[in-house]
Amino acid sequence: MTLQVEDIPPNATLTGCKIATLAASDNPYGVIEDGAIAIADGKILNVGEAAAMEAKHAELPKIDMEGRLVTPGLIDCHTHVVFGGDRAREFEMRLEGASYEAIAREGGGIVSTVKATRTTSEEELLASALKRVDALISEGVTTIEIKSGYGLDIESELKMLRVAREIGKVRPIRVKTCYLAAHALPPEYKDRAKDYINDVCIAGLKAAFDQGLVDAVDGFCEGIAFSPEEIEPLFKEARNLNIPVKLHAEQLSNLGGAKLAAQYNALSADHLEYLDESGVKAMADAGSVAVILPGAFYTLRETQAPPIELFRKHNVAMAIATDCNPGSSPLSSIQTTMNMVCTLFRMTPEEALIGATRNAARALGLSDTGVISKGMRADLAIWDLDHPRELSYWTGMNPLHCRLFGGTS
Ligand code: NIG
Ligand code: FE
Repeated sequence: MTLQVEDIPPNATLTGCKIATLAASDNPYGVIEDGAIAIADGKILNVGEAAAMEAKHAELPKIDMEGRLVTPGLIDCHTHVVFGGDRAREFEMRLEGASYEAIAREGGGIVSTVKATRTTSEEELLASALKRVDALISEGVTTIEIKSGYGLDIESELKMLRVAREIGKVRPIRVKTCYLAAHALPPEYKDRAKDYINDVCIAGLKAAFDQGLVDAVDGFCEGIAFSPEEIEPLFKEARNLNIPVKLHAEQLSNLGGAKLAAQYNALSADHLEYLDESGVKAMADAGSVAVILPGAFYTLRETQAPPIELFRKHNVAMAIATDCNPGSSPLSSIQTTMNMVCTLFRMTPEEALIGATRNAARALGLSDTGVISKGMRADLAIWDLDHPRELSYWTGMNPLHCRLFGGTS
């Protein structure tokens, strides 16, 4: 029986697939040229050569993918899609010569988005975030991480996390939340960073945890934000609560943030343009993922690229993400992100795809998605493409044919 792809029943075998499994394999991309994927109850029951699979799962209806490319559903493992307002005026100011840091020091930057986010209702925050989330879904994304960090008071941080959770209820996408109160110092705590970390970040973390709103804890370790010493008490509290940590580190300067993150067995350290080899080694020892964010590099016209060659040398897994946010990365395209890491940082198209699937899952602490293998969630993207390298090659056209989220189209 040949069915239309739009009507894929919950239990079925997808036949006629070129599969980039991204699982460990001798083939680049873990490719199976003429493959099939059996799906049952939202999971991958089996995957392999088409002929063998069809015989094994004769009981399931077959849907012919007509030679299309199938990859794991894409994962955007670092976003700030929930925020009020926009910062298009700052974009113009930078074009007129102002720097990102100067704008931040003068009360613009993150703090200006904080003002807008505090005064925007939950409904409006949801509606605006959904536009960005829908753009990502349309490109094959099935899992997204969403950070708080534009509230900077307990109630507003909780509001952002509630909106993030709501997104996972109203759209077919899995949402991992990340608590980022330590994103910037709000004006009411000027020169009192320690108090802010204690009164807002740590107290708010406990509240968010009690309400089941937080899957990971993050901070911004930078001259315009917090030092490693300021971040550490927050990481200690995360450890007490058994919540994994991650860190925006070494984006504009090298303060040793990635090393601190590694000490706390961070899932990831993110940005990393200014990371040195000792920091790379610390990440390797801790097994932390390097999350590469080309959108911010591009938007801020940064010239120092993250140390990709050192990550390769020390076997640090690299993930990639949009960093979608209103200031440094107004980017809602994971496909463009894949192209950018290749062109800007000389990552390979295979590294880019692994970065948006297998390693992105790892950066979120997820072991049931990101590769196509037995027992994983049936989160799949089906493309009108011949080869997985094309995912990083084309920009500005969307080759997604359809997407399965937990086996459902
Ligand atoms: O990931 N680096 C810090 N935070 C965001 C930027 C947020 C903003 O400018 O609004 C980032 O790039
Ligand atoms: Fe970020």
